Amino acid sequence: MSRAPSPQANHGSDTWLERDRAHLWHPWAPNRISSETLVIVSGEGCRVWDADGRGFLDAKASGLNATLGYGCRPVIDAVSDQLSRLMTYDMIEGTSVPAIELARRIAGLTGPELNRTFFCNSGSEAIEACVRIARSYHTLSGSSERTQVVSLRNGYHGTTMAAFAATTGAAPEAGFVSLPGPVPPAAPGMGDRGGLDVIRDHLGEHGRRTAAVLLEPVQGLGGHIVPDEYLWELRKLCDEHGVLMILDEVMTGFGRTGRMFAYEYADIRPDILATSKGLTAGYASLGAVTTTQRVFDAFEHDRDVGGLAHGHTHSGHATACATALAVLDQLEGAGVLANTQERGRQLLEGLGAGGVGDTAFVRDLRGRGLLVVVELDSPRRAVRVKQSMQQDGVLVRRSGANIILAPPLVITAEEVDRVTEAVVAALNSDYVLAI
Ligand SMILES: Cc1ncc(COP(=O)(O)O)c(C=O)c1O
Repeated sequence: MSRAPSPQANHGSDTWLERDRAHLWHPWAPNRISSETLVIVSGEGCRVWDADGRGFLDAKASGLNATLGYGCRPVIDAVSDQLSRLMTYDMIEGTSVPAIELARRIAGLTGPELNRTFFCNSGSEAIEACVRIARSYHTLSGSSERTQVVSLRNGYHGTTMAAFAATTGAAPEAGFVSLPGPVPPAAPGMGDRGGLDVIRDHLGEHGRRTAAVLLEPVQGLGGHIVPDEYLWELRKLCDEHGVLMILDEVMTGFGRTGRMFAYEYADIRPDILATSKGLTAGYASLGAVTTTQRVFDAFEHDRDVGGLAHGHTHSGHATACATALAVLDQLEGAGVLANTQERGRQLLEGLGAGGVGDTAFVRDLRGRGLLVVVELDSPRRAVRVKQSMQQDGVLVRRSGANIILAPPLVITAEEVDRVTEAVVAALNSDYVLAI
């Protein structure tokens, strides 16, 4: 599994980690570095190698974004071609061909109603823009009292101000309210249709003050699949109350669940769609907010505000957009979505056949496409499973008590078997059983 060391690997992991500790501030916490932190220096397909030459199967696709795996040549060539031609051009006073082409291409996938795309740089920024667009839309439409954004508990929307407020729902004074959702199954007394009754009651009382309902089709890093019926009913409720539906497909968009967008399973369309991770498959940083023409028109016809006073220096970055175009070529052309469905089924079935679902401390085994979650009885046990699997050469994401399996969508049948074996071995290891 060893490869020729890349120039960055001219030191071993220990040296890099020492330098990391001295100067780097990692996302989410200043002190995430431990003896298990990997210094990854190269990758090919679904495999990555660290600075000590150790190889791993990456069953978490970097940060659930490397959907095409590492070293995808057509994407790399497109990035390099665009960089040599024109790395980017200002989208405030001008425009650029890759941004135009990508907006058109996305409209071809999401349309006909969802046909306007605003570009930003990350998932959190996309959510930030969704919230501003929703509130401004109502102001421009003569309903400035509609400011409240309703999100669902157990969701995840990011870490910028609005995205984090929607994630925690802990900012009612700022107009963010979080309600129990359909998953995990609503608590007794919450209505026999899960969280739908809760949201119906809420909109019945506060609908006139509500700008939007924001949710993910597969909720949070727990990988809870929102039932299709819930999405369908919620779509109707939003329409009844004049509330915009914002779908956060930052994690699920562009193939992760085996369809281009997870909303396709429920056969609904949101008014506003946020995407990011799979859009560039990790080869560039890009986020997108796609809205209906109706939402866009409210801004187009506004003479006072002059449109949405929102945007970034790198909005529509030409190289990032060219990257996304090349990623879409792969997703649409190379059987990637079919592979996602088949390998996802294989993974769930393999884990089932390996007795994972029957293990005493496994609470649940669920998945859609290549987003599969093994829910354990405690975060502590999940930490040990992740550690054991890393020792065994397979990398997974852990969130709370959940082990998240979200490999590149190009994973092979043999590699899926390898991931399955590693999960089963970890669950049966003394280290994990000892808790
Ligand atoms: C559903 C969802 N929304 C938003 C975000 C935030 O995206 P980013 O980390 O790019 O800011 C994430 C990131 O994991 C996500 O999974």
